[in-house]
Amino acid sequence: MNSNIRNFCIIAHIDHGKSTLADRFLEFTGTVSKRDMKNQLLDSMDLERERGITIKLTPVRMEYKSHLEVTPKDPSNQPQGILHSVQNDNKNDYILNLIDTPGHVDFNYEVSRSLAAVEGAVLLVDATQGVQAQTIGNLYLAIEQNLEIIPVINKIDSPAANIEKTKAEIIHLLGCKEEDIILASGKTGQGVEEILQTIIKKIPAPLDFGTKPPRALIFDSSYNEFKGVVASVRVTDGQLKKGDKIYLMTTQTPAEVLELGYYTPKFQPSDSIKNGEIGYIVTGLKEVRDCRVGDTITTLNSEKTGLATEPLPGYKEVKAMVYAGIFPSEGDGYEELRDAIDRLKLSDSALIYEPEHSQALGFGFRCGFLGMLHLDIFQERLHREFNLEVVITVPSVAYKIEKTNNVSLTIHSPQEMPEPNHILSIMEPWMTLDIITPKDYVGNVMTLISERRGRYLNTEYLSTGSDQRALLHYQIPLAALITDFYDKLKTVTSGYASMNYELIGYEKTDVVKIEILVAEEPVEALATLVWREDAFHIGKKICESLKDSLPRQQFELKIQAAIGGKVIASDRLGALRKDVIAKLYGGDVTRKMKLLEKQKKGKKRMMAHSKIDIPSSAYLAVLKR
Ligand code: GTP
Repeated sequence: MNSNIRNFCIIAHIDHGKSTLADRFLEFTGTVSKRDMKNQLLDSMDLERERGITIKLTPVRMEYKSHLEVTPKDPSNQPQGILHSVQNDNKNDYILNLIDTPGHVDFNYEVSRSLAAVEGAVLLVDATQGVQAQTIGNLYLAIEQNLEIIPVINKIDSPAANIEKTKAEIIHLLGCKEEDIILASGKTGQGVEEILQTIIKKIPAPLDFGTKPPRALIFDSSYNEFKGVVASVRVTDGQLKKGDKIYLMTTQTPAEVLELGYYTPKFQPSDSIKNGEIGYIVTGLKEVRDCRVGDTITTLNSEKTGLATEPLPGYKEVKAMVYAGIFPSEGDGYEELRDAIDRLKLSDSALIYEPEHSQALGFGFRCGFLGMLHLDIFQERLHREFNLEVVITVPSVAYKIEKTNNVSLTIHSPQEMPEPNHILSIMEPWMTLDIITPKDYVGNVMTLISERRGRYLNTEYLSTGSDQRALLHYQIPLAALITDFYDKLKTVTSGYASMNYELIGYEKTDVVKIEILVAEEPVEALATLVWREDAFHIGKKICESLKDSLPRQQFELKIQAAIGGKVIASDRLGALRKDVIAKLYGGDVTRKMKLLEKQKKGKKRMMAHSKIDIPSSAYLAVLKR
């Protein structure tokens, strides 16, 4: 009987207060005592707590004694095809399973898997910000999963809260009634009880499939130092027990349940997890990659395959979107870097990497990321957890190339680009892009997008009135989003805009490789793939920003951008002039000339043997071109 279980998520735009509200739930239900409470308890990584963003989701099971008499949702009101179990005997004892989800678009797949593991979602909207792009992005994912949505306006304690406007936007978005929207504050705890009561009232209990062969959806997997690979699961059918021989259906990997139980939010071992419940399984697997998010666990039958024959729907291989070379900034740091990346991979199954060698940068790795934030977090974790400084090459998207000899290939870096005369056609990834901005900035956003080759589709308005906000729909090449698009968007909208994006497919394009030469030597890590039309302009900009960020040398430094050996832009950084004649007071002009002449020769010699040290600030300058 599952009637006292409620499984739910909180969905929200980044920073709208999910983790803080989750903390209040834990406190209110007595799951974590006030004494043990540290802020944002579910964000377990230091980095998450510091930046205040959720990277990994952490499920938690709360036991809740409801004080009020709750009438469960009338099964006859449910959408067709969904049956609901009857009320249990201990009417007021509930088990609430909360999955906290990451807010950022890079981690969308994790959000969609969490949503597949629950029956309802609390849609949290910050009263000081209103509906934002990822509010809508995540809401659509929830609606696709047929979830019951509970709208909540958060941060109503804040002096900057605009409750009426936020209400209007939510009503416009959901078509709900005003009285359906709960007003809350994760900070003061206001509204927390009402949210929990509404969850019990409105979110359907999980369906009872207790007699079917066991199936469980993996919605997260991680590596624990003491337990090995741990899967977070929603059991949909049957039950799983300690000691069960299990089978991962997509990867066709057998494993064993060494331990299982619930998150409270610590590991709380148990003998079994039943259908409808959320918990963890210690799998005994060595690698997180064998235990993929979205896969289905069943038990092993006598033929050594799964007892259940149909995996749960919706499994998707997560694909990297942005690629970059990662090299140790010190020449001999390769082994350390390799160990660090191997370790990070244990807890980051979306990260992909393979060894790469570059003449200039030595041995390193070509890595694939879900997006720029993922890359950013990766770099910061290398620095923070492993004390490693790295050089990151200009990020690139994947290009599909058709060569003249009919061979097709996918490249992820400028270094892999074939000679121009071997290329028949190039395709690049395109995205849908949704931007929400106050009406006054629509013009600026339009200009920015058209500079970046976006295609305008249409505009919706989120509410009426003088401070109306627009939801703009576009399509845009991914390459246009990965350099500094988000920074620019924030600048042109005084920080008000938010965005959400998703891959739609590949389209034909015309790109060329720009090489950058410093002191006439190509700097491989600065090479970049750009649209042919923009090549001259970008080449010029890169030269300029390098001129500003490279340290002056004893000699004049030539900085050039070239395509296929032909220089398209160049700049010069003047020499650092040591004052060799400072010691001479007045007098002998020929002596001065002699010294200057000697200095010049010295500089020439140095130039011939130079290898310029390019500081990482110069790479950054190029990235922000
Ligand atoms: P992500 O996980 O990164 O998506 O963020 P989040 O949605 O979990 O937001 P988080 O709980 O980290 O809160 C974001 C910021 O809002 C923090 O600075 C909180 O202190 C603040 N905050 C959260 N809830 C409230 C609230 O009810 N009132 C006020 N005034 N501030 C709040």
